[in-house]
Amino acid sequence: MYPIKRNRRLRSSEAVRSMVREQQLSPTDFIVPLFAVEGSDVKEEITSMPDYYRMSLDHLKKEVQELWSMGLKTVLLFVKVPDTLKDNKGTEALNPKGLMQRAIALVKETVPEMVVMTDVALDPYSSFGHDGIVEKGVIVNDTTVEVLAQMALSHAQAGADFVAPSDMMDGRILAIRTLLEQEHFHNTGILSYSAKYASGFYGPFRSALDSAPGFGDKKTYQMDFHNRKEALLEAELDIEEGADIVMVKPGLAYLDIIRDLSNQVDVPIAAYQVSGEYAMLKAAAQKGWIEYDAIMYEQLIAFKRAGASLIATYCAKDAVRILG
Ligand code: PBG
Repeated sequence: MYPIKRNRRLRSSEAVRSMVREQQLSPTDFIVPLFAVEGSDVKEEITSMPDYYRMSLDHLKKEVQELWSMGLKTVLLFVKVPDTLKDNKGTEALNPKGLMQRAIALVKETVPEMVVMTDVALDPYSSFGHDGIVEKGVIVNDTTVEVLAQMALSHAQAGADFVAPSDMMDGRILAIRTLLEQEHFHNTGILSYSAKYASGFYGPFRSALDSAPGFGDKKTYQMDFHNRKEALLEAELDIEEGADIVMVKPGLAYLDIIRDLSNQVDVPIAAYQVSGEYAMLKAAAQKGWIEYDAIMYEQLIAFKRAGASLIATYCAKDAVRILG
């Protein structure tokens, strides 16, 4: 009770504030998404994601060296696939010499200790732009899951440390874990996009990879954002099926979900600050309406405060620069 209790005492100087501070950021909190394209000497800025690039493998090599030197130790790989290689079965996704498989090998060759995570979903490979195989306008679950398991195995064979299924098909974690075990990839981990919502925030990513759905939307597999409880159900099932880490996506509008999971599950939780969140931050900063560094930092801290121990973010390098 006042004046015995004066809460401002613990805010009285930066030294005191930092003494009682509950959250910190460190470079090892971050997962850095990287976009690979075919070709050489390609480094194209993504229009809706200022200062973020699609890179050919020669540039990707330099990028991972730079990331490692900054203390950033985990990357999440995505690929942009030429239209001519897209079909309805994800054939190219299983090509041992495909862009993803070469990108994985390149990162592991360049910086062997770098933790390499890979996106597992059919959308960049799909002529329909959907995460699964389409039959009569429906995204079919079980045949998709078989291909996803093969895709995960192919990434593991190329050297991936973690596969990250982002497709939201039912049963895919069990199928992937089972196949990895059968093929002796006991140490290949699974980061599951467990609570992935059907969100408008993925727009810039889809234009970056040319992976927007050709018809309809993703609401029959990604979660309905009006709901909380099914996020817990999805995460619990994924953990039973063998997920090592569970992810919530998007990030900032879903802090309640991160907190719910953090209260209920015992595996590490990752948050994904997605492309639309990054685009909003950059756009407002370019207008001079907000201060990029300050707001980025505040948002990243919010993920930690909500209970995430890992953050996939396009701001990782900027964040490390300001951490000093
Ligand atoms: C593909 C995938 C998407 C993202 C990550 N993996 C897009 C989608 O589901 O349509 C979004 C990432 C972002 O917006 O930053 N399954």
